[in-house]
Amino acid sequence: MKILGIETSCDDTGIAVYDNLQGLLVNELYNQKKIHANYGGIIPELASRTHSKKIIFLLDKIFKKINLEKDINLIAYTAGPGLVGSLLVGATFACSLGFSLNIPVLPVNHMEAHLLSPMLDSHLITFPFIGLLVSGKHTQIIAAYKLGKYEILGNSLDDAAGEAFDKISKLLGLKYPNGHELSNLAKKGVKINLKFPRPMKNHSNLNFSFSGLKTFAANIIKNKTLNFQQKANIAKAFEDAVVDILLMKTKRALNQKKWSNLVIAGGVSANKLLRKKSEIMMREVFNGKVFFARPEFCTDNGAMIAYLGSLYYKKKNIFPSLEITVKPKWPLDSLSVL
Ligand code: KG4
Ligand code: ZN
Repeated sequence: MKILGIETSCDDTGIAVYDNLQGLLVNELYNQKKIHANYGGIIPELASRTHSKKIIFLLDKIFKKINLEKDINLIAYTAGPGLVGSLLVGATFACSLGFSLNIPVLPVNHMEAHLLSPMLDSHLITFPFIGLLVSGKHTQIIAAYKLGKYEILGNSLDDAAGEAFDKISKLLGLKYPNGHELSNLAKKGVKINLKFPRPMKNHSNLNFSFSGLKTFAANIIKNKTLNFQQKANIAKAFEDAVVDILLMKTKRALNQKKWSNLVIAGGVSANKLLRKKSEIMMREVFNGKVFFARPEFCTDNGAMIAYLGSLYYKKKNIFPSLEITVKPKWPLDSLSVL
């Protein structure tokens, strides 16, 4: 059984084919970051136009390797959450392709795809588990009971962790989007007499807030001429604070549920310090394990969409449909349970 996955929720155009026996067969990605970097952030209109320009080109590459008409059992596409224009490109494309080739089409949730993306490489992950979803738009702690059934235990009340990384790196003069670059800079930093706050540390709930951290950093950085070492030290202090607060709340969630499996997913899960510290926490405190996707699957990609499609295909009867579904807001706790 082969599933074609289409991802266009934001600024990455991704198409992949996943086979439940052979694993991932092809994975094509067009990354728009350079286009948006000129503007210091994502321009939604430009993102949708670029998706529609690039998607055919990516499909052509897939055509060279796979006979779609003969081989594909299902087309899964990201229906939300995301930018409405970007989502519409992928949804319209997927439904047209499905209609013309008479292949069933399934709308899937982008955040569920992130959450389960580590399963692409590891079959050791089993439900239930605690999920820490950390991307450019979301920071959530999830109780994952089974495919389609999730409870949101905690949420960011303002900025997402990835957004905070992006904003601080912009203030430090790094290019957009730059969580990865900020983290590289932080490696050159040393501990200084400057401790960033740990927002909401003393609140017993599992929510986060990152806007205060951003203001704290802005007050240190603004109107100053900082040398490389000073910038690296600020990057380190900031990264330490974000990773600390993410893990403090995750630890609380694991204790509440008394579970010992953790999945960390989304763009920020590529962060090396977060990976290292969570591995230590899981081993030493919970005698458990933490799972991540391989770094190229932490950010948006078609492989995680194809994989999620394959999980649903195994469980549910899916029929050809022409209904184009787009849900810019689609919380994980509102999926239809199988
Ligand atoms: O999951 P994703 O591709 O986009 C959304 O669905 O929102 O995540 C992108 C986010 C960006 O904010 C980026 O700066 C951040 O992930 N990111 C990182 C790292 N790599 C990507 N943040 C911290 N450390 C990294 N190594
Ligand atoms: Zn994403």
